[in-house]
Amino acid sequence: MAALQRLQAATPGMPPWTDVHWRGLLAGDAIVVIAEADGDIAGYAVASLLRIPGEVLAELEAIVVASAYRRNGLGNGLLRYLLGEAQAAGAIRLILEVRSGNTAARALYRGLGFQEEGLRRRYYRDPVEDAVLMSLQFPQDTVALEKRPE
Ligand SMILES: CC(C)(COP(=O)(O)OP(=O)(O)OC[C@H]1O[C@@H](n2cnc3c(N)ncnc32)[C@H](O)[C@@H]1OP(=O)(O)O)[C@@H](O)C(=O)NCCC(=O)NCCS
Repeated sequence: MAALQRLQAATPGMPPWTDVHWRGLLAGDAIVVIAEADGDIAGYAVASLLRIPGEVLAELEAIVVASAYRRNGLGNGLLRYLLGEAQAAGAIRLILEVRSGNTAARALYRGLGFQEEGLRRRYYRDPVEDAVLMSLQFPQDTVALEKRPE
């Protein structure tokens, strides 16, 4: 928990989750992927599962890689792993929103096939910035496989 908090605090713009919130995520209906390196936490990715009538959506809440480990494929690996877990949990797509000026994150998402679907104007504070809405639809055949009866 201390290592998660350290990485969170060292990354501008990360949601300021308390230990209680983290414990809730770890115990609840969320997907939490944590990468360890050299006895420390090198990155994490968190998605919540939204169960609406007839379908399950996954929403990316946060992804971060510690600055010492960036540009080595770890963000890509964390997100790929999380996408696999979301599909295994029955989600049909993963949605997210990202600051329009976050070129690194937007390139990471685009590289994995996410589509930009719209803007939420002046959505973020400190500094005020638009949110770009993105989503990745999972292949239907995979979803059908998950739902096929035994
Ligand atoms: C976004 C972030 C998670 C990427 O992690 P990473 O481990 O460096 O990413 P990867 O090495 O897997 O890079 C994957 C792709 O992302 C893109 N990318 C990553 N960093 C980039 C940068 N600084 N500039 C431009 N593109 C970048 C590239 O397309 C890259 O593919 P390539 O290496 O083949 O060019 C990392 O920069 C980070 O933690 N940023 C701060 C937190 C944040 O903004 N999170 C997103 C909002 S919650």
